[in-house]
Amino acid sequence: MIVNGLMARNFFRVFLMLLVWCGILTTLNILLMFRGEQGVKEYLTWYHNHSKFTKHDSYLVLNYQHHTTETDITKRSWKDGYHFPKDLCDAESLNETKMDAVFKNSIMPLFSKQLAYCRVYKGGSTFWKRLLAYLQRNIKLSPFRIKPQDEQSKYRVSCAKHSLNGTYNILTETRSFMFTRNPYSRILSAYIDKLYSPNPYFWKTLGVIIMKTVGKNPSCGSAVTFRDLVEYIIQTPIEKLDDHFIPIHSICRPCQVNYHYIGKMENFLNDTVNIFAKFQINSSPYITQNFSDEYKYDAIYDTVQAFIAFRHESKKCMNPYTGLQRIWRKLQYRGIISENKSIPLNKKESQHILLSKLLTIISTTHQISKKDNLSVQRRKLFIQAYNTIPLTLMYKLQNVYHNDFKLFGYDPFPKSLFGNRSNIMTDVFLV
Ligand SMILES: *[C@@H]1O[C@H](CO)[C@@H](O)[C@H](O)[C@H]1NC(C)=O
Ligand SMILES: *[C@@H]1O[C@H](CO)[C@@H](O)[C@H](O)[C@H]1NC(C)=O
Ligand SMILES: *[C@@H]1O[C@H](CO)[C@@H](O)[C@H](O)[C@H]1NC(C)=O
Ligand SMILES: *[C@@H]1O[C@H](CO)[C@@H](O)[C@H](O)[C@H]1NC(C)=O
Ligand SMILES: *[C@@H]1O[C@H](CO)[C@@H](O)[C@H](O)[C@H]1NC(C)=O
Ligand SMILES: *[C@@H]1O[C@H](CO)[C@@H](O)[C@H](O)[C@H]1NC(C)=O
Ligand SMILES: *[C@@H]1O[C@H](CO)[C@@H](O)[C@H](O)[C@H]1NC(C)=O
Ligand SMILES: *[C@@H]1O[C@H](CO)[C@@H](O)[C@H](O)[C@H]1NC(C)=O
Repeated sequence: MIVNGLMARNFFRVFLMLLVWCGILTTLNILLMFRGEQGVKEYLTWYHNHSKFTKHDSYLVLNYQHHTTETDITKRSWKDGYHFPKDLCDAESLNETKMDAVFKNSIMPLFSKQLAYCRVYKGGSTFWKRLLAYLQRNIKLSPFRIKPQDEQSKYRVSCAKHSLNGTYNILTETRSFMFTRNPYSRILSAYIDKLYSPNPYFWKTLGVIIMKTVGKNPSCGSAVTFRDLVEYIIQTPIEKLDDHFIPIHSICRPCQVNYHYIGKMENFLNDTVNIFAKFQINSSPYITQNFSDEYKYDAIYDTVQAFIAFRHESKKCMNPYTGLQRIWRKLQYRGIISENKSIPLNKKESQHILLSKLLTIISTTHQISKKDNLSVQRRKLFIQAYNTIPLTLMYKLQNVYHNDFKLFGYDPFPKSLFGNRSNIMTDVFLV
């Protein structure tokens, strides 16, 4: 019996060693397959220097083989909380004491419908706050009827004033849901919306903080590059980050809360319809047939309205023509107008153009842009933006969001961003 036990134990040990070796070999193979030679060298140096990074990264890299394509991963949503991979939660994703206020502030209960929504900026939150307002007031209309800038009409009830226990209790007593988004697109989207587009409020607050963090002259906070933002995210403790950049798992805590539905921004319409179905609410008054047109028109209106509203205030920092160039670029990034269409206005005209006129110009440009391949363009501009970030910073950025990648099933090392990076570009965004 004892001999048998010993043999079995030895056999088990050898078996374990084999497993470990296979793991190492697979890791190296995958690394070699998916990155250029130079990337691997850089990666391995980093690997040895940072044990914390090593732990999570080996998991992620080993699992890379299951991630056949980027779209494969992003399509997965969780139809109920019990399918969420809680086994992947670790000490860090469980202990979030420093961010209780952010969590409570993000939970928006709607008691009359027994719903609770966890708000994530750049994760469809303007849409959902409008939708919740209509649900609360029993108004059966498309939420796009509320103007994106109309904060008063949006749903604003949160758990900010509740205790932490109270908030968790609300979440067990309601049907809760949240949306996630690929960290790389979330960050870039926040950059383009809040820092690149003329937005004096964000320039004065976030822009100035970022410029100080990276050791540049802050002036107006209007000259933050995408790389500056990435440096700020890497250098700032998570709890001190602006809400747009706090990892989503820290905001919504899916490791502690059993969300009934975790949707994805990448699958927004389908997930929104599924949420209605799951919670037995008729979606037809809210989600119209031309949802995607409305969505795009809403984005155009929001962009143009903000430009006109901020034009005067922005003048101290940026001339209106530059502002116009930036919002034009933003709409190209979003795949609303073609990169081959240039602004049909000159400097003088951009000073005084009216909202209605600019809306017409952009809507017309959008219509004629539809014949171009805008999804290819979006992808190209996305990759160009990340090509301004050196690989070492990319690894560090990945590490800030490693739990979001892991928990929500996004590829932390997409080939398109970590692949051939021999031609690092300068900032494509700043004009
Ligand atoms: C790793 O550490 C060594 C020695 O401490 C240092 O020279 C090297 O620059 C570090 N590499 C990275 C990528 O941080
Ligand atoms: C959670 O983290 C805080 C600060 O990092 C620490 O003080 C506290 O002891 C941790 N709690 C647990 C249960 O690990
Ligand atoms: C929170 O709830 C737990 C478990 O229900 C309980 O042990 C604890 O005393 C509560 N804390 C507060 C501050 O109410
Ligand atoms: C959209 O939702 C339906 C269920 O309502 C599901 O069958 C379908 O696979 C979903 N499509 C995607 C792309 O997730
Ligand atoms: C959506 O469709 C309705 C009716 O078909 C139409 O009145 C409305 O203008 C459309 N909205 C947009 C933004 O296309
Ligand atoms: C813009 O024009 C270039 C050169 O003609 C072309 O290669 C590119 O595909 C066009 N962009 C779009 C979005 O069609
Ligand atoms: C755009 O290009 C992609 C890849 O080349 C292709 O799959 C897609 O069908 C094209 N879309 C349009 C609208 O031409
Ligand atoms: C990487 O890009 C450069 C320049 O675009 C090109 O010359 C080189 O062949 C590419 N390398 C690989 C491995 O694709």
